[in-house]
Amino acid sequence: MQALPWKVVWITGASTGIGREIALQLAGQGVTVAASARSADKLVSLGPNIRPYPLDVTDRQAVLATLETIEGDLGPVDLAVMAAGTYSPLDVEKFGAPLFEAAMTTNYLGVVNCLSGLLPRMFRRRRGHVAWVASVAGFVGLPKAAAYGPSKAALINLAESLKVDLELRGVTVSVVNPGFVETPLTAQNDFAMPFLMQAPEAARLTIEGLKRRRFEISYPWRFVLIMKLARLMPYGLFFRLIKRTVLKA
Ligand SMILES: NC(=O)c1ccc[n+]([C@@H]2O[C@H](COP(=O)([O-])OP(=O)(O)OC[C@H]3O[C@@H](n4cnc5c(N)ncnc54)[C@H](OP(=O)(O)O)[C@@H]3O)[C@@H](O)[C@H]2O)c1
Repeated sequence: MQALPWKVVWITGASTGIGREIALQLAGQGVTVAASARSADKLVSLGPNIRPYPLDVTDRQAVLATLETIEGDLGPVDLAVMAAGTYSPLDVEKFGAPLFEAAMTTNYLGVVNCLSGLLPRMFRRRRGHVAWVASVAGFVGLPKAAAYGPSKAALINLAESLKVDLELRGVTVSVVNPGFVETPLTAQNDFAMPFLMQAPEAARLTIEGLKRRRFEISYPWRFVLIMKLARLMPYGLFFRLIKRTVLKA
């Protein structure tokens, strides 16, 4: 197996699901992983190459202090994978701002907070790789995803906006767009999830893409293709399809 190009990787959202699997697979291949999430107890037992750095990514000061500690302990972060995220399906009958605020604060501003700490450091070194987990739900608006989807669309737009500027300063940007992956996050879905994947496979595909320094890492490809075609459809056709296939109306 080809050696991985990173010595130290910082992962947020590493206590469960996709982030946890990425941490386990990278650590298994000899990388030192700094693992962050709010649940400190779930981070301590992850494995020998995985060091716990509990953190709430919505707390900007804590993010900056934690990164300082990580780099003090382990050396420069070569790659940061920002996977911390929250999802609650929206019931339009109970429409309210808090769900939207939570999605934007954790999913979107959580990444911005991490970048605020990472970028000055990486610019000084003129090297580094930053990656964040958006979603295929950021490609098009979908029923029940009215709070979650916009936070993921914002993350895709953020990556597109930053890519060239960061590259000119030696920093690589990647955006990861998974389809449905079986994790605690999707366990609350009460509908059949098409092309459902397991977290180890999602983590493997993510690491493969990161190794190749790809800008966009989207999977599984069949679902990605359908969602990208949906984005190109005339709205009339798109909404008819949504009505028939998703809402069964
Ligand atoms: N599963 C899917 O189908 C799917 C599809 C597309 C995109 N995604 C995205 O993939 C990422 C990982 O999701 P997952 O499916 O693996 O879900 P998950 O198992 O629920 O993992 C979410 C992770 O984020 C952490 N987290 C949540 N809020 C946080 C905060 N404020 N500060 C720090 N950490 C926080 C959680 O740990 P604590 O609760 O301990 O903090 C947990 O480690 C998310 O960004 C999600 O939106 C998932």
